[in-house]
Amino acid sequence: NARAEFVVVANRLPVDLERTADGTQRWTQSPGGLVSALEPFLRSRKGAWVGWPGVPDVEVDEFSDEGLVLHPVTLTSDEVRDYYEGFSNATLWPLYHDVVARPVFDRGWWESYVRVNRRFAEASAAVAGKGATVWVQDYQLQLVPTMLRELRPDLRIGFFLHIPFPPVELFMQLPWRAEIVRGLIGADLVGFHRPGGAQNFLWLARQLIGLEPSRGSVGVRSRPGMVQVGDRTVRVGAFPISIDAAGLDSLSRSKAVQERAAQVRRELGDPKTVLLGVDRLDYTKGIDLRLQAFHELLQEGRVKSEDVAFVQLATPSRERVEHYRQMRGEIEQIVGRINGEFGRVGHPAVHYLHQSVNRSELAAFFSAADVMVVTPLRDGMNLVCKEYVACRHDLGGALVLSEFAGAAAELSSAFLVNPHDLDGVKNALEQAITLDPAEGRRRMRALRRQVLTHDVDRWARSFLEALGTEAAA
Ligand code: G6P
Repeated sequence: NARAEFVVVANRLPVDLERTADGTQRWTQSPGGLVSALEPFLRSRKGAWVGWPGVPDVEVDEFSDEGLVLHPVTLTSDEVRDYYEGFSNATLWPLYHDVVARPVFDRGWWESYVRVNRRFAEASAAVAGKGATVWVQDYQLQLVPTMLRELRPDLRIGFFLHIPFPPVELFMQLPWRAEIVRGLIGADLVGFHRPGGAQNFLWLARQLIGLEPSRGSVGVRSRPGMVQVGDRTVRVGAFPISIDAAGLDSLSRSKAVQERAAQVRRELGDPKTVLLGVDRLDYTKGIDLRLQAFHELLQEGRVKSEDVAFVQLATPSRERVEHYRQMRGEIEQIVGRINGEFGRVGHPAVHYLHQSVNRSELAAFFSAADVMVVTPLRDGMNLVCKEYVACRHDLGGALVLSEFAGAAAELSSAFLVNPHDLDGVKNALEQAITLDPAEGRRRMRALRRQVLTHDVDRWARSFLEALGTEAAA
């Protein structure tokens, strides 16, 4: 029985099962940065992926997709409500994102989280071959490392958190804080985007479950900190994630994408400047704030609607969760207000799509956009800004980026903004719109140097090297 030597475990499979109106089914790419980062990496390694197919109550057998083995985990509709929409996305998500929205603490949701984490641990234990490496992903599965270790002490287990790890004051609000820390330290290596997250985790491990640091021990990049758990050493460190930069660079150079980019500009009415936002529709992304900044620029006459088109692509996300519904309503109201005031027939000021867009269409939008606007209130990394940079081999375009995105630490040649400071965002937008082309090229060259030399492959290899496995080879 040939079981996998390398297994990724994530809440979602890289593909979602979609049921169409006529009752047929098809697989589409799953949303979000985790999948877009890990999928190309894992495909090149021919491993197995354990995850949920994205719809409740379906049982799908393990299947192969271009060399990748996909192992679906079933969630019931109650579990989707309690574990996924509830504990993962209405408790942990807001708590870990600086309490941008108020987290709900519900004991029933927690119980569901424990049950579903156990199911993922069992599925992973069944898929992994002897001595295999299992890499557990993200906040939905923080209990899996310890549960899996109990089932399979022979495995090497890594855990990576794709969202910010919160300040200790916020984490301490969680009624199940010690259980979460205990769940994570089953891993041999616990990875975060930023050194601050690693440090917070080390502090909590010490305070909440009395673990002692072993020699050395601050969580810094490439020299992970360590804690001692019985006779095991758990390493803790920062590994900033990235994208398939070369793949996107070459996609964006293709004739099809370049032609589509030119067509997009024509369809927008050949404005002088195209501004672009691309996000999952999420209240952490600051979509409302950037639209408000644009609105004020129009009202003050600093930007003319004849000259500038704002395109906002918002991928539908977590639509049954209350805060997401509210945010969608707010965004759509602002879009309506701006277009009511500043649009002309056939020429809205804001082009808003609440749809998902495929990779080459996205590359065309990136290529067509003069200013990319990325303004999250808090974001673990944010891959969209890196994708934009990877698509600008022409050295055109400017990036306005929130300093509260993990990516800001790497992309210092962007126009960095505090998204809460509307005047600051407006100034940055104006600067980016009126940017001197030579200065723009200088900035873009620096951004590209960083993004093209720090791709997702390098990220994964550095994590797996720190985990001490050969899977990187
Ligand atoms: C973020 C999270 C991922 C998640 C993705 C999409 O990138 O870090 O874990 O999969 O958003 O969200 P969803 O809830 O649709 O899976």
